[in-house]
Amino acid sequence: MAFIGYTTQGFILLLAAASLLALSDAKTIVVGGNEGWRFGFNYTEWVLQNSPFYINDQLVFKYDPPSANNPGYSVYLLPNFWSYVTCDFSKAKLLAGANQGGGEGFKVELNQWRPYYFASGDKDGYNCKDGLMKLFAVPLPRWNN
Ligand SMILES: *[C@@H]1O[C@H](CO)[C@@H](O)[C@H](O)[C@H]1NC(C)=O
Repeated sequence: MAFIGYTTQGFILLLAAASLLALSDAKTIVVGGNEGWRFGFNYTEWVLQNSPFYINDQLVFKYDPPSANNPGYSVYLLPNFWSYVTCDFSKAKLLAGANQGGGEGFKVELNQWRPYYFASGDKDGYNCKDGLMKLFAVPLPRWNN
């Protein structure tokens, strides 16, 4: 080990510390903060303000159940960027229905290095188009993944 200089050792320590930090840093993030998942909140802006996300972070969708003035929200995973842009749900996958946003909310772990496109899918894309209920996130890899 004598041939490893002081600087190299310092650098290795720094890397080790950084990877520990990154590991312990997996976050649980409530989408929209106190606003939750609701009609009319700009989630594109929220993502810009709350990025970056990292692999293994959890997004939590909290939303009200259907009521007289609210036919209900949901969480869909859209297949690609174009379906996200156009709010096209034809190949979307339902992750959480109208009654799954209560209590602690619905949690999704961002466990892959890929783009995630989420949207609320009710009313033929009305939530997504007019209500801005969509978001796009690419979690960044961590040191130890
Ligand atoms: C939502 O926020 C984004 C980013 O700030 C902005 O570009 C967009 O125009 C906003 N949308 C609406 C409908 O305000």
